[in-house]
Amino acid sequence: MSAVLPPASPSCRASVYFNPWDEDFRANPYPFYAPLLAGPPLVIERFFPMVVAARYADAAAILADHRRYSSVAPKGPLLKERFALFGEAARVLFSDPPVHTRLRRLVSRAFTPRRVAALEPRVRQITRELLDRAAADGRFDAVAALANPLPIMIIAEMLGVPPQEYPVFKKWSDAVVQVDTVVPGNPIPQTVYEAVEALRAYFAAEIARRRQTGADDLVSVLVSASEQGEEVLSAEELIAFVILLLLAGNETTTNLIGNGMLALARHPESYARLRQHPELIASAVEEMLRFDGPVQATVRYLGEETEFGGRLMPRETPVFVVLAAANRDPARFARPEMFDIARKPNDHLAFGDGIHYCLGAALARLEATAAFSGVVRRFARIELIEPASPLRYRGSYFVRGLSSLALAAQG
Ligand code: HEM
Repeated sequence: MSAVLPPASPSCRASVYFNPWDEDFRANPYPFYAPLLAGPPLVIERFFPMVVAARYADAAAILADHRRYSSVAPKGPLLKERFALFGEAARVLFSDPPVHTRLRRLVSRAFTPRRVAALEPRVRQITRELLDRAAADGRFDAVAALANPLPIMIIAEMLGVPPQEYPVFKKWSDAVVQVDTVVPGNPIPQTVYEAVEALRAYFAAEIARRRQTGADDLVSVLVSASEQGEEVLSAEELIAFVILLLLAGNETTTNLIGNGMLALARHPESYARLRQHPELIASAVEEMLRFDGPVQATVRYLGEETEFGGRLMPRETPVFVVLAAANRDPARFARPEMFDIARKPNDHLAFGDGIHYCLGAALARLEATAAFSGVVRRFARIELIEPASPLRYRGSYFVRGLSSLALAAQG
């Protein structure tokens, strides 16, 4: 499939192009957002009719209204296989109240601010060790050396997975995320099924083991949450949640670090400023989330028949909420194309909004802050080693991140 680049004028809606399954679109979706931002949500036909909402106000209104915009995927033929893949258990991300309220209350116990804050020394230590290795010869792949291992090591540790199992987790996690790249209607690759099965078998055994031992890791906390009082997570819900965490917590944070390193490498003046003013790191991380967020879009389904652009769309029509476009809406952000590490205010939608607001946001911020503090402390300058071919992105549009990022660093 080849994409036609929209003309520069954002006023021409005829040039709207939105296709998450097109490689050219995925490589750089940002130029395609301007025409989408020029007007209200509109209907696009691409494999199936879908509504695409890009403006900040539209995205925020949709995320705030779970009655009209449901997170429960319809059991239609197109998405059935995709959802069957993960089992029938309700999952927090794909549920509406009251199921969501119950699941969110239970799983939040594992993500208390205290539990997350307690991880900080460990996150800093792992970052230091990774950077020691990376710094050794002045050139490194920021994705392989830092962005990939840090989040998987932290989440695996939180889940009580022993270090020798990390590489196999990463492999399973990467395989499962590939489901996003499958064109609707095409079969899901066998490797995805195998990875889901492997994760499920692993955690089923672990959950059984933790019931006996009762340690303080996240799986044990969730197991005991499911045993106290009347409110319980079923065994299947528990497995589904642990798998969700592994997926939601890995690739996303990896991509925040990877995309953020790229932004810094492309903006040496921002890097120098950050080095001089490390107190700006928290605000720089917010800007990385806004400027090139790891989650480009999320999906809701119409809870009732609704009109868009004069067309009455039936219940269950998918609504793509393009968070990364909303984060570049000039009606909300002054000079949205600029990477400004001191931007204020910066109320981006990179973590979503409303009842599904990212449960792991504090953890992701902690990891990214530690990673970038470690980097600016260690290196006076970082430079992009221009690859012979354009930068390569992983396969998914929804979860956007680089496959590799070669940097030269001076100490
Ligand atoms: C930079 C990193 C991350 C980004 C950009 C991100 C983004 C998001 C977004 C946009 C949503 C809402 C999706 C929707 O409304 O449809 C979400 C939900 C969620 N995230 Fe994250 N996430 C990140 C890291 C993490 C981490 C580290 C974890 C856990 C270890 C995590 C766990 C979750 C969970 C469990 C939900 C579902 C919450 C609910 O449905 O109530 N995320 N995330």
